[in-house]
Amino acid sequence: MRHIHLQTTVGQAVAEHPDLARIFEHLQIDYCCGGRRTLGDALRERGLEPQTALRVLAASAGARFTHEADCARLTMPELLDHIECTHHGYLHEVLPRLVGLADKVVVAHGERHPELARLRELVRLFVDEMQDHLAREEAVLFPCLRELAGGRPGFWGGLEAPIQMMESEHDESGRTLREIRELTDGFQAPADACSSWRSLLQALAGIEFDTHLHVHKENNILFPRVREMLAERV
Ligand SMILES: [Fe+2]
Ligand SMILES: [Fe+2]
Repeated sequence: MRHIHLQTTVGQAVAEHPDLARIFEHLQIDYCCGGRRTLGDALRERGLEPQTALRVLAASAGARFTHEADCARLTMPELLDHIECTHHGYLHEVLPRLVGLADKVVVAHGERHPELARLRELVRLFVDEMQDHLAREEAVLFPCLRELAGGRPGFWGGLEAPIQMMESEHDESGRTLREIRELTDGFQAPADACSSWRSLLQALAGIEFDTHLHVHKENNILFPRVREMLAERV
């Protein structure tokens, strides 16, 4: 097991010890889009004493209590397959029913809960942006990365621009999810919420956690590995 220290970036720590993702979720430490910060800074920002918190994290990192895949050990084609099967597959299943569910909740409760109209807007925005994003990765970027990993010759220097575009779209989806979290008070259902409203919040909480892992695997494992391969080819 690789040692983690205060200078380790949050993204590297989760790449090496996937079980830390769940702990960072509880501590509300951003390990996907904010994965380049050091653990020391991230812990301090959450008001934790860094040395003590680090000892707790290091102890937890050794104990496997989830079944999160150890993506840092996968080859690039295996990692691409894993991301598509696990995270894209999940989103393809859950996103299409999300807008209908949000519409239903607004019709039933929008009058007494005006904040639901904004929630529906954010849900639509997230669904539209994420569906476009998945389509671009699946149709363009990932096939190119499979060819790169297979050693095919090509103009690989041109990959930097689409990767940066994917990273900035990850930031955007992260912002939308944060606004959804704030608006719903951490996905909590009010006392008068019906079962559709509860299902919507439950689905959104699941999507938030899955998207954090998904973006972490792309930003902190996949893209750095592609950049390393590109640098070796120069
Ligand atoms: Fe993806
Ligand atoms: Fe992505």
